[in-house]
Amino acid sequence: MHFDPWSPEFVAHPYDVYAELRRERPVGFYEPTGQWLVARHADVNTLLRDRRLGRSYLHVATHAEFGRPDDPEFQDPFWRVVRAGMLDVEPPVHTRLRRLVSKAFTPRMVEALRPKVARIAGELVDAFVERGGGNLIAEVAEPLPVTVIAEMLGVPEADRHLLRPWSADICGMYELNPSVEAQHTAVRAAQEFSDYLVGLARARRADPGDDLISALALVADEGDTLSEEELVGTCVLLLNAGHEATVNVTGNGWWSLFRNPAELERLRADHGLLPTAIEELMRWDTPLQMFERWVLEDISVGGVDIPRGSEVALLFGSANRDPEVFADPDRLDVGRTDNPHISFGAGIHFCLGAPLARIELAESFGALLRRAPKMELVTEPSWGPGYIIRGLRALEVRI
Ligand code: HEM
Repeated sequence: MHFDPWSPEFVAHPYDVYAELRRERPVGFYEPTGQWLVARHADVNTLLRDRRLGRSYLHVATHAEFGRPDDPEFQDPFWRVVRAGMLDVEPPVHTRLRRLVSKAFTPRMVEALRPKVARIAGELVDAFVERGGGNLIAEVAEPLPVTVIAEMLGVPEADRHLLRPWSADICGMYELNPSVEAQHTAVRAAQEFSDYLVGLARARRADPGDDLISALALVADEGDTLSEEELVGTCVLLLNAGHEATVNVTGNGWWSLFRNPAELERLRADHGLLPTAIEELMRWDTPLQMFERWVLEDISVGGVDIPRGSEVALLFGSANRDPEVFADPDRLDVGRTDNPHISFGAGIHFCLGAPLARIELAESFGALLRRAPKMELVTEPSWGPGYIIRGLRALEVRI
C-alpha cells in the first residue's frame, strides 16, 4: 500500500504507510494534491511553530502571486465565513480574534464548567445504559460536545440539531481535493449557518444573555474590534471545532480500547488511569490526521528545500507514531506518561479548546466506565470517508 487518502483501506489503517514514509521519505512531494508530505514528529512540531509558514498566505500575497487560481465565485459565502475565523488568519488579525474569546476557554474558566459537563454526560450515559446500548457515536459522543459548546455560545436548544449537519457539510471542504458536489454542499451550509448566526447575534444584541454570542455581539457593537463577519466566522469556528474532533476521539477511542482488550481491562480495573488513557487514545488513533500550512518564505526541512508558495501537509497521525519520540509507538498503553502527542497542534493555532475537550472526554469516558463496566462491541465499525477528519460512521455497543 502507499499514501492514498482516498482509499478506504488506507484510511482504515494508515500507520504502516506512515512508518515507511518516516523511514524512507520523511519529506516528499505528493503529486495528487501538489503538497509536501511531512511525516516525522520533529519536523511537524517545528513547522507548526515556524512563522515562515501560515494557515493562509492572503495576508502577504494574492492568489496570483502564489501561483494559485482565484476561488470560484460560487464559493464566496464559504470563504467569507471561514476566512473570518481565527483558524484561517495570521497575526495581527489572529491575535485580536483569539484574544477576544480566549478568556472563556482558559483551564480555570472551563474547569468551572466541569459539573455541568459531568451532569450532561451522566444523563446521556444513564439513558444509553437504560436502553441497553446502541450507537455510541450518535447517542453519547455527539450530543455531549454539541450541547456543551451550544450552551456556551447560547444557541437555543430547539436549533441545536442544525449544528451537526452544518458542521459536517462545511468540513467536507477540508478534505483533500473535495468533489464539486461536496464544494456546493459546503457553500450552502456556510451560507445557512451564517444567516442563522447573523439573526441570532442581532437578537442577542437587543436582548443579551449570559453567553458568548451575546458577549461578542456587544463587542461588535462597540466599534472597530470585531466586525459582524468576524463575529459569524468566530461562532461558526467555535461551534464546529468545538465538537467535530471530540466526537471522533470518543468513537475512535472506544474502538481502540475494544481492539486492545487487555488495555481496556487495565483501565476498567483502575479508573485512575483515565487522564493518561485519554491522551494515549488521542495519540494512538489521531482524530485529525493532517493539517496544512502555506510556505511564506523559502524553507529547508530535513535537507529538502521547499520554496515559497508551496503547501506542506503535516501528518499528525504519523508524527504521533514516531519511534524517535514514543517508546513502542504502535502499542496502545493507557498508562503512558511520556506522551508529547501533537493531536492539539502547536504554535499560535494550538487548539483553543484543548482544556474543554479534555474535560468532556474525561467525563464521558468516566461515566461509561462506571455505569457500563461490561459494555461490548456488537459489530465491527466502519470508517467514514474522511481522511483529514477521520472517524467512525457508527459504533454499535451492547451493555
Ligand atoms: C479532542 C478534541 C479536539 C482536537 C483533537 C482538536 C484539535 C485541534 C487542532 C489540531 C487545532 C490546530 C489546527 C492547526 O494548527 O491547523 C485546533 C484548533 C482549534 N480548536 Fe481544537 N480540537 C479539539 C477540540 C476543540 C474544542 C472542544 C474546541 C472548543 C472551543 C476547539 C476549538 C478550536 C479553535 C477555536 C481552534 C483554532 C485556534 C487558532 O487558530 O488559534 N477545539 N484544534
